[in-house]
Amino acid sequence: MERLQNKVTLITGAGKGQGAYEAELFASEGAKVVLADVNLESCVEIQKKIESKGGHAISMSLDVTSESEWIKCVRRIQNTYNALHVLVNNAGIYSRIPIMDASTKEFQQIIDVNLKGVFLGTKHSIPLMKKSDFSSIINISSTAGLVGNQGGGAYGASKGGVRLFTKYTAIQHATDGIRANSVHPGPIDTDMIAENLSTKEGRASSISKIPLGRIGNSHDVAMAVLFLASDESSFVTGSEIVVDGGLTAQ
Ligand SMILES: NC(=O)c1ccc[n+]([C@@H]2O[C@H](COP(=O)([O-])OP(=O)(O)OC[C@H]3O[C@@H](n4cnc5c(N)ncnc54)[C@H](O)[C@@H]3O)[C@@H](O)[C@H]2O)c1
Repeated sequence: MERLQNKVTLITGAGKGQGAYEAELFASEGAKVVLADVNLESCVEIQKKIESKGGHAISMSLDVTSESEWIKCVRRIQNTYNALHVLVNNAGIYSRIPIMDASTKEFQQIIDVNLKGVFLGTKHSIPLMKKSDFSSIINISSTAGLVGNQGGGAYGASKGGVRLFTKYTAIQHATDGIRANSVHPGPIDTDMIAENLSTKEGRASSISKIPLGRIGNSHDVAMAVLFLASDESSFVTGSEIVVDGGLTAQ
């Protein structure tokens, strides 16, 4: 039995990295996957890969900071499937600029994509998600939303906001049959942190802080997201899964 059989699943930031990996994995588990990203072409590439393996996917252009684009996106899902079972708020941008070097504009941009994007996605998806008996929202936060760091400020604030926003969503929509949980990856080998890992020293320094002794990958995160998306986690809501090789357990 496929773990997401016929579940309509919207993944933001699905054009590459973790979102793209989750899209392929979810399709292989029977989901009807809606790939959404500011970069539509990259979604179409992933869609073709999914279709070549017999899976189902469609692609949409979506800037998660735009309320009007969210409204259009959900309307299209309603017209196509008349259902939305799983929402993965995965789109995000990263910055290590320390507080004193960050401009107000840079701070706002990170909050807009990483936190306002999650608010808008949640707000506009819930009316359609409520129509199904069981739905699941998974918000991709970060270990940076759990503990502080030498680099960054806005990024941690946005991800910490996502952590708490998830719990409010879980409480306010439990009786609608909607679960909401956050996932907190540590360093994951995608383009997002490619610069940090580009030198031997940078990679070694990151690894030295991780008890399991390696950088994570998209598969590590996707397996946690898959559990939260599936009915296997039917009693799990308002919770957080940390996928960091033990980094924040210390
Ligand atoms: N890579 C890591 O080490 C790491 C660690 C913890 C958390 N995260 C989080 O995981 C999520 C996925 O990151 P990733 O590692 O796959 O990064 P990535 O840079 O490989 O992919 C991010 C995707 O989001 C899309 N995106 C960016 N802004 C967008 C917007 N306004 N609207 C729609 N799409 C947009 C990009 O086009 C891209 O396809 C992010 O929320 C990130 O903050 C990543």
